[in-house]
Amino acid sequence: MSIDGKTELYGIIGNPVRHSLSPAMHNAGFATMGMNRIYVPMEVSNIEQAVTGLRALGFNGVSVTVPYKETVIPYLDEIDPVAEKIGAVNTLLFRKDRAGKVILRGFNTDWLGANTAIAEKIKLQSTRVLIIGAGGAAKAVAFGLVQAGAEVVITNRTREKGERLATWLGCRCIALGEQEEFTADVLINTTSVGMEPEIEQTLVAGDILSRFSVVMDIVYAPLETRLLREAKAAGCTTIDGLSMLLYQGAAQFKIWTGVHPPQLIMRSALEEELRVRRLSVV
Ligand code: ATR
Repeated sequence: MSIDGKTELYGIIGNPVRHSLSPAMHNAGFATMGMNRIYVPMEVSNIEQAVTGLRALGFNGVSVTVPYKETVIPYLDEIDPVAEKIGAVNTLLFRKDRAGKVILRGFNTDWLGANTAIAEKIKLQSTRVLIIGAGGAAKAVAFGLVQAGAEVVITNRTREKGERLATWLGCRCIALGEQEEFTADVLINTTSVGMEPEIEQTLVAGDILSRFSVVMDIVYAPLETRLLREAKAAGCTTIDGLSMLLYQGAAQFKIWTGVHPPQLIMRSALEEELRVRRLSVV
């Protein structure tokens, strides 16, 4: 990659953000398409100053991650109606108007990433989906599925938080534990349970997983969580945590460049980055 005076600037803001796999994914995409663009991680402690800085430095597009997906909204000029409804923005697009003034627009591609990953395996319309968790990730995933006509049910450790999300979505909430009695087409873990280093943790007993056709985990380190390993053994179709990451990133790439992203290359870059990190840990 050669960087020169014409290199367009992209990146990700969050805190922490140094662990992010997005630079590997987007830089591979840009390079494959022969685009003179670079994507860098930026750890941010003040979102208002960060947005002012990005505008002043001439950034073209930026991903937003935890904890700024909601708090970035007051600093936008425009917001996509879906992102406004969800109340969270994970993608920024900077463009100039005729007078040369920078216009900053926010989007949300997380919901699209989840929908695309699941729709590869099963139709969404009228499909029953049990979502474990009620945080930011659960909100985006559940919103997308409801839009697509799925019948969503939420379960969460903190019942009131689960109820709040379910009320907002207009769907049901069941107590964590009740899922042992529950049958659905799709099961999605949106919590961090099962993530390294506590890789033997799971919220769903292996012997009930055969009640679901498709099991998805948003955890991607390890790529095969205990939940997914046991789901495979139970005969379920599985969707790993890189799928949602890839498809939300692919949607960002399209917003920034206007062209269809090289998804296979971007997926390989994500897997390679995970491999490299595993080696560096050993
Ligand atoms: P994110 O934005 O990544 O979704 P979050 O907003 O902190 O993160 O939400 C984390 C979700 O994982 C929550 O639903 C949380 O449950 P609580 O609402 O009860 O906190 C869930 N979660 C995290 N650790 C958990 C655990 N050990 N057992 C069950 N649920 C857990």
